[in-house]
Order: sequence, then C-alpha cells, then structure tokens
Amino acid sequence: MKLKKKLKPRIKARLRKMGLKTKLRPQIGARIKKNKEIINKNIDNFFDWIKGAELIELKECNVNEDPVRPELDNIFRRSYGRKIFGVKYMGEIHAVMCFAYTNEVPKNVIELDKFSHDAFLQSAQRDQNVGQIAIAYTVWSKKKGGGKLIVNEVFKKIKKSNHLNRLITLSPLTDMATRFHTSNGAKLIQVNDTTQNFEYIVSK
Ligand SMILES: CC(C)(COP(=O)(O)OP(=O)(O)OC[C@H]1O[C@@H](n2cnc3c(N)ncnc32)[C@H](O)[C@@H]1OP(=O)(O)O)[C@@H](O)C(=O)NCCC(=O)NCCS
Repeated sequence: MKLKKKLKPRIKARLRKMGLKTKLRPQIGARIKKNKEIINKNIDNFFDWIKGAELIELKECNVNEDPVRPELDNIFRRSYGRKIFGVKYMGEIHAVMCFAYTNEVPKNVIELDKFSHDAFLQSAQRDQNVGQIAIAYTVWSKKKGGGKLIVNEVFKKIKKSNHLNRLITLSPLTDMATRFHTSNGAKLIQVNDTTQNFEYIVSK
C-alpha cells in the first residue's frame, strides 16, 4: 500500500514531464482495456483451433518444408511400416511428425533405416506389428501450438496401442529441439555425435 501511494505522484510527475496531462489517464486506461480484450480474443482463437484439430495419417508430406531432414523422400518415410502423421484443421495441415518403428534406439538416420528395416522383417515372420519403439525422427509446425499439439496427440495414440511401449525421438543437436521436447515433458536419454534422443515415458 505504502509503495503504491509513493508511486502515484511519481507516475503523475513522469506524465507531466512527457508533456502528457494527468487527465489523459482515462484514455490510457481505455487503451489497456482494449489491449486486454484483443489478448483474450487471441487466446480464444488459439484454443478454438486446438479444439478443432485432428491427428491423421498422411500418404505424403512436402519434404521441402521439413526443416530437420529434408533429404528424406516420401518413399523413405513410408517404407518398412514408417508413417507420416499430420495435425489437420480447416482442411490444412498445421504440423507434421514422421515415425519409424524399431526394437533399438537409433543414433543416426543410417541406424534408423537399419533398425526399422530389421523390425519390419521380424514382424513379417511373427505378427503384423512393426517394432515396439516409435521413433519420431522429425517434427515441424506451421502454426504456433501445432508442435505441442501433435506431440500430445501422438503420445495418446501410443499409450492406447497394444504393441508400442516407448516413444523416443531422433532429434538434431539444436537448442530448439531441446527446449521443445523438454518443455513437452520428455527426458534426454542420450547425446550422440550428430543427434540426441529424448524419451516421452509411456506408462500403461
Ligand atoms: C520446434 C517446433 C516444432 C515447435 O512447434 P510450435 O508449434 O512452434 O511450438 P509450440 O507452440 O507447440 O511450443 C512448444 C514449446 O517449444 C519450444 N519452442 C517453440 N518454438 C521455439 C523456438 N523457435 N525456439 C526455441 N524453443 C521453441 C518452447 O519451449 C515452447 O513452449 P512455450 O510456448 O511454452 O515457450 C517448431 O518451432 C518448428 O517447426 N521448428 C523447426 C523444426 C524443428 O526444429 N523441430 C524440432 C526438432 S525434431
């Protein structure tokens, strides 16, 4: 209270110094109110798009948009049980995540290719389920919030699955990847020469 009382004359003096009359204060109040309304409206719009979004499997993606592994073509992304998922909203894809299914944790794309190929051949001899580990080897977002949303949706899908028991990333060694996955609740399990692996613990 004391601090508030002390500050008021100081603010008035500052406004006078800036050539503003203290009478202007109601206008400033109105501007703050308007800004608050705009922020609230933006938050509402943000949650509206989150609510209307759905996770779907894609036949292909625009690999040139992939900031992490543009060198991998759609054939690689769909071979040996590998899958491409997207978050769709109003007919548009807002975030994409690509998966390979393995029984070991890969340290690079060569291992990712080999391990998912191995898991695919093993599954052909046993059942139809390829590998027990879902490896997310790329994710990108075209709309703020899309990244977190696709991770959450994929996580729910894996939790429900009967044969997948781990969700691990093959991520680049960038601060963005670290901040993104740790802020979504993943744990760093391994740092490799050119990549890092994060794990989203799936408790069933
Ligand atoms: C990383 C990426 C997928 C995040 O998607 P997004 O929809 O923008 O992010 P979200 O709104 O879901 O944010 C989730 C968290 O990621 C982190 N993050 C997002 N963008 C970031 C950036 N540019 N730099 C650092 N951290 C970032 C933040 O911690 C953020 O949490 P916060 O909003 O509470 O601060 C997106 O920025 C992207 O496409 N990046 C390029 C590709 C890439 O590096 N992919 C990750 C490595 S596999």
